Amino acid sequence: MRILIAGGNGQLGRDCQDELGAAGHVLLAKDLPELDIADEAGMRELVRSWRPDAVVNCAAYTAVDRAEREPVAAERANATGPAVLAKVCAEAGVRLVHISTDYVFPGDREPPQPYVEADEPGPKSVYGRTKLAGERVVLAAWPEGAAILRTAWLYGARGRNFLKAILKRALAGQPLRVVDDQYGSPTCSESLAHQVRVVLEAGATGMFHATSQGHCTWYEFAQAFFRQMDIEASVSPCTTAEFPADAPRPLNSILDNAALRAAGLDVMPSWLDALAAFVRRHREALMEECGGGARG
Ligand SMILES: NC(=O)c1ccc[n+]([C@@H]2O[C@H](COP(=O)([O-])OP(=O)(O)OC[C@H]3O[C@@H](n4cnc5c(N)ncnc54)[C@H](OP(=O)(O)O)[C@@H]3O)[C@@H](O)[C@H]2O)c1
Repeated sequence: MRILIAGGNGQLGRDCQDELGAAGHVLLAKDLPELDIADEAGMRELVRSWRPDAVVNCAAYTAVDRAEREPVAAERANATGPAVLAKVCAEAGVRLVHISTDYVFPGDREPPQPYVEADEPGPKSVYGRTKLAGERVVLAAWPEGAAILRTAWLYGARGRNFLKAILKRALAGQPLRVVDDQYGSPTCSESLAHQVRVVLEAGATGMFHATSQGHCTWYEFAQAFFRQMDIEASVSPCTTAEFPADAPRPLNSILDNAALRAAGLDVMPSWLDALAAFVRRHREALMEECGGGARG
């Protein structure tokens, strides 16, 4: 397949390049400032000239707290951009895989009860609201040709994420307090890139939850990470109320991959297995990037 990856320089975008490239697909990966998914004329011209069979949209405004102060920018990337992509893809008959988030849910369900695809969203933050708007326009504009994968708590080797943030602090000898009352499913972007490929190659359309299986709190995630990294870090649990952020987060955003399973397409590993594999592959590079050098 000829596949255009929008947001190709982001955390997931880079892993999609590796995964889809290794599978023999012909790729064109683009990102800001060269490619703006909200630029309708530019997108239409690119699809007309390069003629992809599919577009994978990894582009998004992902700064959850900053989005509270920059709703217009978040709306442009997370709602206007997907609307443009869906319209242009529908016009050209090009498949679209779009990525969304667990933060479309309110999170007031008792953990570990998960959310399934049919559950009613109710985002609490600007980020969640703009991502929900993006989902809705994609499904409305291109119902026969679009798949949406809702993922959560994403981490990868390239890009910014929670694991790198806490590793930097730990290697600097700083104590960490991590919230222990928000539940979710940490998901490696390499696993998600594999799931994107499976969905694309199967020609599946519709709404799919796509997180690693199992769940934990952010505190448990941090502990498991340091254990796998074999690093002694001072980590203590705290509550969301003790650690206020600009954007409210769902307390429970555990997702069940019910639709992927029903379609026989669920290839997401357990979060602990994926984390162990991630650390095995990237421990040295993480230590280097986060300031530890040869230590540890
Ligand atoms: N990260 C998470 O924890 C998480 C959790 C749940 C769901 N998701 C979803 O997963 C997907 C991938 O996330 P990620 O962590 O890979 O994000 P990321 O690392 O922030 O990558 C997003 C990329 O999109 C680019 N971009 C932003 N606006 C654009 C536009 N208008 N046109 C083209 N490119 C644009 C960004 O460029 P700049 O950096 O220059 O802005 C960046 O390179 C997103 O849909 C996100 O909402 C992420």
